[in-house]
Formats: sequence, C-alpha cells, structure tokens
Amino acid sequence: MTSTGPAFDSNCMTLTRFVLAEQKRVPTATGDLTQLLNSIQTAVKAVSSAVRKAGIAKLYGIAGKQNVQGEEVKKLDVLANELFINMLSSSFTTCMLISEENETVIEIEGEKQGKYIVCFDPLDGSSNIDCLVSIGSIFGIFKKIEGKPLPTLEDALQPGHKMVAAGYALYGSATMMVLSTGGTVNGFTLDPAIGEFVLTDTDIRVPDRGNILSINEGYSYMWDEAVKEYVSSKKDPKNGKPYGARYVGSMVADVHRTLKYGGIFMYPATSAAPKGKLRLLYECFPMAYIMTHAGGLASNGTTPILDIVPDSIHQRCPIFLGSQYDVEDVMQLIKKYNK
Ligand code: AHM
Ligand code: MG
Repeated sequence: MTSTGPAFDSNCMTLTRFVLAEQKRVPTATGDLTQLLNSIQTAVKAVSSAVRKAGIAKLYGIAGKQNVQGEEVKKLDVLANELFINMLSSSFTTCMLISEENETVIEIEGEKQGKYIVCFDPLDGSSNIDCLVSIGSIFGIFKKIEGKPLPTLEDALQPGHKMVAAGYALYGSATMMVLSTGGTVNGFTLDPAIGEFVLTDTDIRVPDRGNILSINEGYSYMWDEAVKEYVSSKKDPKNGKPYGARYVGSMVADVHRTLKYGGIFMYPATSAAPKGKLRLLYECFPMAYIMTHAGGLASNGTTPILDIVPDSIHQRCPIFLGSQYDVEDVMQLIKKYNK
C-alpha cells in the first residue's frame, strides 16, 4: 500500500498556537495582542459559519437600512458587525473600535478597556453576498498613543505604518485567515472538523511581477489618462503576452489572488469618485500592510498607502497594490502625467 502521508496531523500548527509562539519571542509582551487576535478568530469563525448557511438561515437580503456611506446594509453585514463588536469589546484588550458600519468610533470604557484600536470591515464585498461569490472580513490593529490617559480621535488617525498587526479572512471555497504581526505573512485555513485555523501557507511572498490585471473596467471612461494608458499597455503590450483580467468585486478575494499569483489590483480615482471607493482605515491600510510585508507594494499612485495620515475615519483612498514591478509601472505613468 502506498502512503500519501498522514491523514491527520497530531501536531498541527493552529493560529492560536502560532500567535502564542510569536508572543513568547517578545520578552515584554503581555499577551494582550494574542487575546485580541483570539477574539477576532472567534468572530471570523462565527461569520464563516453564518456565511456557509446564510441561504438556509434566511440571512440573505437587506436589513432595511443604509450605512454611513449611504449603501444598503445586508443582514449578514449586520450580523458580522455585531459579532466583531461583541467579541472585540469583551476581549479586555481594546479601547476603540472603528467599523465600516458605524458612523462614529466605538469607545470601550471601564474595566474592559485595553490599549488597542481595531479598525475593521466586518463583511466586505456586500454586493457578492446573495450570489455566493467570495466575501471577506478585514482588520487593522493600532496601539493607543503612549502618554495619554484616555484615547482620542488622534489614536484612530495614525498612519498605516503604525499598525501592530493586520489581516483578513476570506470566505471562499475554504475559509482562510491571512495575518501579519509585523514579520512574515502567514495563511491559516479553517478546518471545520476541529474548528481551528491551521497553518497552510507559511511566509507568503508575492511574486515580483505577475501577469494578472484586476480593476473594474466598467469605469474606464472615468479613469485618468495614466490609468487608461497603463491598462491598455498591459492588454495590448508592445512585446510579450497580454495580462489576464480577473475582477471578483470583493477586495479580499482580489487581493488574496494578487498575493498568491502576483499582478496588480487597482481601485483608482474616477471622475465620479475623485478619492476612489475603498476606505483607508479598514480596507486600504490592512491590505497595504499585508502586501508590503509580503514583499509587494501598495500606493495611492504617488505615496505609499502606509505613509498616509488619515484625517477622518471613513476617508476613501485610491489604491494600486500587488507585485513590486507591476505597481512601479503604473506609478511611473502617474508621475509622467503629473509632470
Ligand atoms: P463594500 O465595503 O460595500 O462591500 O464595498 C467594497 C467592495 C470591495 O470589496 C471591492 O473591491 C469593491 O467594493 C468593488 O466595487 P465596484 O463594484 O465599484 O467595482
Ligand atoms: Mg467594505
């Protein structure tokens, strides 16, 4: 009989175990970040379970209200937001939460207050919920600025490079969490049989160059000249093969593919949306953090995303992210047209 390897790994590296081991390497660590990440894991597992049975549990459709951006809120959006808020606010590690679904910051007071600020999009890709296309959750974690007794808005508006950890969960053909706490980027697949995230993608590195282009081409007439020239140069190159086009319309799925296969994901400014669509704090920052730690680039066209200092919690930002050379190509054209 030929062996295909052990069917059951009795020593599997779970996400909890991985984070704990990373914590132990920092002698001054208190364990708070580990606790916080555990609460995010719980929220993600519950969201994943809800996503998997949404049709049966009658969770599809709209909740009957609009969010702060004036967009329709789906029932699953509401559930995911409640799960994130409840798990994070009871983790004894956070002092402020910023959610895509809440107009203002959520302050955690009293004995539950901790030192971390978490910015999150509890369920991203809402337009894909009801047709069973991949969706995700995104989060970025900051530490309260030292020397102040109470957190203020200033703590929520720190530049992206101040994040201490960031990641996302993808509810795709499997559920995966991708996380970086400032070192490597690692991917953990949810094993539904044991209810644990298991390390499956160690030290993810984005290829230096890819051959996939990811942008909503329906808006091409509203792009600026640099983006138009970049996209046509990849579709109809002077030399070599054209790039393939892939656009899911769920940022988490599009970024995850870009991370794994290389290439570029873009949500540029358009004439109708001069600041783009995606939100800086809980969409662009965490994805830029992951991509940068995986060896790629993330820019708004002129400035690294992680260097931007936000001026409001729901601010939008154009984004170009992915393989180093691919992002550099588009930045060069933007520079040429800006001269
Ligand atoms: P959402 O936060 O309302 O779900 O919107 C964000 C999503 C991203 O996941 C995706 O990249 C983008 O919107 C797609 O937008 P568009 O349909 O304009 O291409
Ligand atoms: Mg979103």
